[in-house]
Amino acid sequence: MEEMKAKQEISSLREELNKYNHAYYVLDRPSVSDAIYDQKMQRLTELEAQFPQFITSDSPTQRVGGEPLDAFVKVQHQVPMLSLSNAFSENDLRDFDRRVKDGLDVEHVTYVCELKIDGLAVSLRYDNGIFTQGATRGDGTTGEDITSNLRTIKSIPLRINETETIEVRGEAFMPQQSFLVLNEAKEENGEEPFANPRNAAAGSLRQLDPKIAAKRNLDIFLYAVGQWESGTLTAHSERLHHLSALGFKTNPEWKKCSSIDEVIEYVNEWVTKRADLPYEIDGIVIKVDQLAYQEQLGTTAKSPRWAIAYKFPAVEAVTKLYDIELSVGRTGVVTPTALLEPVKVAGTTVQRASLHNEDLIHEKDIRVNDTVVIKKAGDIIPEVVRVVTDERDGTEQQYRMPSQCPACSSELVRLEEEVALRCINPNCPAQVKEGLIHFVSRNAMNIDGLGEKVIEQLFEANLVKSIADIYQLKRDELLPLERMGEKSVNNLLQAIEASKSNSLEKLLFGLGIRFVGSKAAKTLAMHFETMDHLAASSYDDLVAVNEIGDKMADSIVRYFGEEKVQQLVHELRNLNLNMTYLGPKPNVEELVDSPFYEKTIVLTGKMERLTRSEAKERIESLGGKITGSVSKKTSLVIAGEDAGSKLDKANDLGITIWSEQELIDTLKEIDEE
Ligand code: IVH
Repeated sequence: MEEMKAKQEISSLREELNKYNHAYYVLDRPSVSDAIYDQKMQRLTELEAQFPQFITSDSPTQRVGGEPLDAFVKVQHQVPMLSLSNAFSENDLRDFDRRVKDGLDVEHVTYVCELKIDGLAVSLRYDNGIFTQGATRGDGTTGEDITSNLRTIKSIPLRINETETIEVRGEAFMPQQSFLVLNEAKEENGEEPFANPRNAAAGSLRQLDPKIAAKRNLDIFLYAVGQWESGTLTAHSERLHHLSALGFKTNPEWKKCSSIDEVIEYVNEWVTKRADLPYEIDGIVIKVDQLAYQEQLGTTAKSPRWAIAYKFPAVEAVTKLYDIELSVGRTGVVTPTALLEPVKVAGTTVQRASLHNEDLIHEKDIRVNDTVVIKKAGDIIPEVVRVVTDERDGTEQQYRMPSQCPACSSELVRLEEEVALRCINPNCPAQVKEGLIHFVSRNAMNIDGLGEKVIEQLFEANLVKSIADIYQLKRDELLPLERMGEKSVNNLLQAIEASKSNSLEKLLFGLGIRFVGSKAAKTLAMHFETMDHLAASSYDDLVAVNEIGDKMADSIVRYFGEEKVQQLVHELRNLNLNMTYLGPKPNVEELVDSPFYEKTIVLTGKMERLTRSEAKERIESLGGKITGSVSKKTSLVIAGEDAGSKLDKANDLGITIWSEQELIDTLKEIDEE
């Protein structure tokens, strides 16, 4: 290809990809299908490999790059990064309002209320429109240069439309879902889980190797401008709009309030609504809107006088820990769980809390029969905060983890650098059983009617000892099982049969290859297309695939090298399981006609006929994007039974609402077209 032509194509691909990226990661409103995006990205990668002279740092192919650093370089902040003083009550907020008005000698002030995102403050500098430096807050004057890690956050634009140097500030964070997935993987790998999404975000950005940060699915909301010579705006609210216009992701929930009463109302609203957010917030930040007023009020040594952070009260409860139960996971990790007397925390009843590992039990000196304080970390996972030692009466017993596997009695081991105890017997019944449960689970083979309880019965009855056995179950073997009538047996056999035609990624994920999550399984299936290609791939073939790291590559090669695995694959093939990728490769023309194309959709309430992941999968394959919370940007809410606050909000905002039936009818119409 001629050089000039290549240059042109590269530049137009970059522009397109940057636009898609902005739509997807910043606006939450995808504008093309994944397939088109991947195709263009691949084309750009190829062209850049052929014409490396045209690679620039703001190319979308260059997000994850460079060698791991030895240490972070210090960065001096041109404008100090201040912190905020705190308010804990309505009175504190009224005092703040009074101080502001007295300081300005005015009767009326407009405030901007924003969610206080629980992450890590960072600053981003753009020179000549190019993202050149990203830094942590540090002590406010000196931070650390974490540019290569921040570049991996896809909602951070690598280029903006502003030639003058501008420095913007915001909060980098880890969404709840990414946090749960990360911690689950950490526990399965015997590593110490992160205590909360904030630590996970901070830990990820403090990695010297940007490849690690790249895998952590971090996100960012920008909320301030630091250095900016020619800034002519006069209000903070205008700056927020300007940040969005420049292509930055800002949090959509901010609100202008014309009195402290309105501020208090906003604060109170979010005390309950925060539970519905897909990320954690720990309070509300209140800022004086007018920049001239901000200047007039000035700052103390540590914090501005024109802003304050209202901190939500912690949601904690006290209860009794009456026992510690052990469970053996799919990879043999033995996890202790606290059994608690049921107690209400933030609206739900809690009766179990993971204790993660033995070290944690000893660090917190948790004993059986202790009275403990528990809280829901991030409003999702219950956690034992501390023991109320004053309540001890001598009946408490210190806990020792057994040295033998509770399921198979083989000696437990603590692998190097792991905090977890692990059963390394590959035939351990608990591991085998967990592996089977994983195989049939929703994101894997999704076999309806084959839940945990049924697998347990089949396993105990010796009817299913390996994955292949599932496909050889006979009607007569199933009928005697508990709660298995004629009809459920028929349904179950049908569901098992139907699962044979699943696309390759479902089977791959179901096999439970170490480090291969459902997303990686999809990447692998799309890339290699058949089980045979994947099984025959070398370490080098694997690491050449975007998003497949060396640990995963190693594990895959080792997995398919095992004779037992080869036998299993052979058996499954003989049982007629599909081993090819059948996933959607939709083209845009078709998608544009879909009623979900470019729409942001929220699913809420109980679905009766479709599972949530089925609904999600269908809508996404038709160009729609599913998000967790209802906002002005939501195009459609699909409400099942007992839909709660999200439905109310959709009604308030006048958003179109569909019932499950309407969704099913629409999908049917599309199928029939
Ligand atoms: S404004 C001078 N806005 O809270 C103004 N901060 O102690 C400085 N934070 O260090 C910050 N969400 O890490 C602001 N919407 C928001 C915020 C926010 C979270 C964090 C930030 C800051 C700390 C304040």
